[in-house]
Amino acid sequence: MNEEKPKYGWYVKNLILTFILVGLFGLTAFIIGLILLGMLGVILSIIGIALMVLFLWPGIGLATMNIILGKDDSEVRGMDILTKIQSPRVLDIGCGTGRTAIKIAKSLPKGGQLNGIDIYNVNAISGNSLATVNRNAELEGVSDKSTFQFGSATEIPFEDNEFHIVNLSSVLHEVHDYEDKERAMKEIHRVLKPKGILFVGEWNRYSWQLILYSGICCIVFKRKKFWDDLIRKQGFTILNYENLVGYGLFTAQKK
Ligand SMILES: C[S@@+](CC[C@H](N)C(=O)[O-])C[C@H]1O[C@@H](n2cnc3c(N)ncnc32)[C@H](O)[C@@H]1O
Repeated sequence: MNEEKPKYGWYVKNLILTFILVGLFGLTAFIIGLILLGMLGVILSIIGIALMVLFLWPGIGLATMNIILGKDDSEVRGMDILTKIQSPRVLDIGCGTGRTAIKIAKSLPKGGQLNGIDIYNVNAISGNSLATVNRNAELEGVSDKSTFQFGSATEIPFEDNEFHIVNLSSVLHEVHDYEDKERAMKEIHRVLKPKGILFVGEWNRYSWQLILYSGICCIVFKRKKFWDDLIRKQGFTILNYENLVGYGLFTAQKK
């Protein structure tokens, strides 16, 4: 009998596949160019190199980023703080398929509760959905201590001072306008209890690891200082920063 497994998936699977296929087409053009020689050969080789730099490299990079996020438990390492709080309330914003949220739910002590929100944009390439996260929570045995619903970082559907901890894993770069990022930070500040803890995981544009595996794709992301400033500006103190192969993990505290 086939046992059903949770689907955390690669949220940009189709994009990754498209990039890699176009990149492989470039590799083929490059090889044919080398064989043909002459002007046509040079043109084909240049097109091939361009397609490899623009598509194959970032395609492999995106795949690597998904593997890093999928395999590593570092994001929940700081969560040992949970055991020191009585009946902790945790909010995971942009929970997607629950990849991080469910790990957090598993590490909750008795009486703890995790809420996850996501905009679940039906047009997004990720394919994340409320049905998937709910099923994953069921399969992982954490349905009783986790609740998932629609909700945006810029308008969090909870009361002031409700949560001990707020987590955002690889979400803020998807909140495109700077004003919306600020709005999101204000909202997080509002729903956190005094001295509440914020965990933010974001890709660091200038980390050599990200440049190495995502090439030109790294310009989509912001530098570490950008996130640092954004977090501090909204009334948080940064307690810790850890670089996990190009993925920065901030721990901050509401003042
Ligand atoms: C790269 S995925 C990360 C998902 C999950 N946090 C994880 O670590 O697997 C980014 C998620 O952020 C969600 N998202 C983007 N903008 C959002 C917003 N304004 N409010 C809430 N979620 C948002 C997307 O729908 C997507 O599910």
